[in-house]
Amino acid sequence: MILIVIIILYCLIIFHMKFWYPELRWDWNKIDTSKIKFPSSFFWGTATASHQVEGNCINNNWFKWENNKDKNNEYRIKDNQVAGIACDHWNRYKEDIHLLKKLGVSHYRLSLEWSKIEPTKGEYNQEAIQHYINVVDELISHNITPAVTLHHFTNPIWFDKLGGFENESNIIHFTTFSNHIFSILSDRVKLWCTINEPEVYSVMGYFNGIFPPGKKNPQLTVNVLKNLLIAHTKTYHLLKKSHNGDTCQIGLVKNIMQFDPYRRWHLLDWLVCYITNKVYNDIPINYLKTGKININYPFFARLNYSNKNAALATDFFGLNYYSHNVLKFKFSKNEFFENKYRSNDILTDMPYAIYPEGFYRAIKDAQKVGKPIIITENGIADYNDSRRSLYIRNYLYALKKALDEGVDIRGYFYWSLMDNFEWAEGYDMKFGLYEVDFKSQKRTLRKGSKALIDIINESK
Ligand code: GAL
Repeated sequence: MILIVIIILYCLIIFHMKFWYPELRWDWNKIDTSKIKFPSSFFWGTATASHQVEGNCINNNWFKWENNKDKNNEYRIKDNQVAGIACDHWNRYKEDIHLLKKLGVSHYRLSLEWSKIEPTKGEYNQEAIQHYINVVDELISHNITPAVTLHHFTNPIWFDKLGGFENESNIIHFTTFSNHIFSILSDRVKLWCTINEPEVYSVMGYFNGIFPPGKKNPQLTVNVLKNLLIAHTKTYHLLKKSHNGDTCQIGLVKNIMQFDPYRRWHLLDWLVCYITNKVYNDIPINYLKTGKININYPFFARLNYSNKNAALATDFFGLNYYSHNVLKFKFSKNEFFENKYRSNDILTDMPYAIYPEGFYRAIKDAQKVGKPIIITENGIADYNDSRRSLYIRNYLYALKKALDEGVDIRGYFYWSLMDNFEWAEGYDMKFGLYEVDFKSQKRTLRKGSKALIDIINESK
């Protein structure tokens, strides 16, 4: 009898989960992606980040991470690569702005390298500040709207030495820096991203240990995530109150990646997805909606935080989307799950499954915050350029579908303008619309990028 009750209960739970959390799939044979057209008010751009493209970022946590060995005496980045001179964007930004013009985009998302602007605590480097003023002026003179990110994964070394975002008391250093640079650029930069992907920064740096500081501690992961979210809120309010604050759009950038169970009948697969989804997606989204964080997983992580000033303290939801994760529960000492793929998945080089339906799902989740959405990143690593146009067309189909259904999405930034330093993966991941030959620094437009250019032109 008990067994029967357990079986019925199990089936009911699984049925409920399958029904409430479907893994959306469309029949692509019946979908025509050849004629996608967006409204002319929708804007188009590409994105980069300082450490990945500028070169010579030698005063931040990533520089240290790339150039020091771990406890097994091994370098952290694939094949011992380092960012080094990267795309030399610092010196070649004028040439790169011409590349933007050729694509026909109107926006460019770049990040400021905090460690170059404030190399020592409290001391600002005027030359670095002037550089960013020049970049912004150059963009504007070419009719390209700059969108500036204040924090994109990198911290000055002095900030890291103080404990970085592990300590709530350090947030003030970030808000002071942000306020300073905002007072200089906000007369001409009207679109600001506070923090890029707080969940990626905390999960990769404190749970997986793949990003600096390479720790593996679930409690610290959620603490750091909380501090990054608080840093966003404080920065948001501070900048909004400053001169020009009311004329600027200021928002958080969040990566959404769904966690779908590999075996949809298996309760433990659902459980690991539930927990990972809670930390990665629910905490930041609920925080933006309500200002609250509640997580209570005995032996894993506990955190209860509430701040009513945080609710809806963002002018837009910056959405970065690449793919979903399909997880299978695994019983081992160090890991509770492994990443799997569906049998007919087409993979990118990362490797992520090409899953445009997930983009649509992510947009619908972002919509729940109730703010306009800007797609701040989306793109594919595709070394042989065989999947880029398919990816672009199918993901933009998903985006357009959401737009047609009334979701307030303002624009789209493709990741990335050009190949660059892909963090732990080094230079192997080719996300660029332009291929970069890192010996000669020559940029060449990829064939697959034409799909994006065509859609932009058709939408003008
Ligand atoms: C994002 C990140 C970017 C870029 C991209 C491609 O998570 O913000 O800097 O690396 O992924 O993987």
